Amino acid sequence: MSENRMNRDKTVIKWIDEISRVIIQKKDNQLEIEQKTSANDLVTNMDKWVEKELVERIRSAYPEDRILGEEGFGDAVENMSGTVWFVDPIDGTLNFILQNENFALMLAVYEDGVPVQSYIYDLTLNKLYKAIKGEGVSCNEQLLSEPANVSLSEGMLATNSSIMIEDKYDKVRKIARKSLGLRLVGSAGLETVEVAKGSIAAYIATNLKPWDIAPGILFMEELGLKATQFNNEPLDLLKNNNIVFATPKAHDEIMKLMNI
Ligand code: IPD
Ligand code: CA
Ligand code: CA
Ligand code: CA
Repeated sequence: MSENRMNRDKTVIKWIDEISRVIIQKKDNQLEIEQKTSANDLVTNMDKWVEKELVERIRSAYPEDRILGEEGFGDAVENMSGTVWFVDPIDGTLNFILQNENFALMLAVYEDGVPVQSYIYDLTLNKLYKAIKGEGVSCNEQLLSEPANVSLSEGMLATNSSIMIEDKYDKVRKIARKSLGLRLVGSAGLETVEVAKGSIAAYIATNLKPWDIAPGILFMEELGLKATQFNNEPLDLLKNNNIVFATPKAHDEIMKLMNI
């Protein structure tokens, strides 16, 4: 790893450590909850505080870089030139509000459109999943091995609720029938981690935002896994995507079933 990236890695880990302690300490206090676009699109004062805190720290340590954050404290990023950070302060906000588990803090760093460092921190299990370009994926600094290249019929499928709700994704039911079983965690980041660990064969999800998928791309690349849109095109970090994160075999089967 270059010295630049190594220092940035140390800095990010320190930030995640400090900020996550505050989230866990304060998570049982009364949350202020607001609706965004609809009744199930919620944001809390904690999502906002975490993003603000991260954006301030990135701006003061790396003033040239640009930041795309879910809650709007970052910049209006319209291209991927230079260093761009993606921030999802709490991925799985509904779980955070209602379940007290299955939510994560996520950060990803891109250099001229190339993913170089990704972090998905499972806030209740204290597990930091990290992908570094050329150096693989680790969990609490223990390297993960490449998952077995299982087919859909040998593994489970994870998906998200917007697929279940909308009729237009009926092909997904065919895909689900081929798998051993279906899972819905409600955190794109933690579902990405399941694919990386080999506990599920594929994660397919619609309408994911740039910060939901930005860390996952490097996780897939470093582990010999696939990350594409439903139509097999590369993911586009400047818009919403319908995504497939999967083993190569499961990806192949999904592409065939999607395009029948
Ligand atoms: C959401 C979660 C969820 C996915 C949604 C995302 P948020 O992120 O990742 O699993 O289905 O599309 O928006 O809003 O909790 O950060
Ligand atoms: Ca949200
Ligand atoms: Ca998210
Ligand atoms: Ca979020």
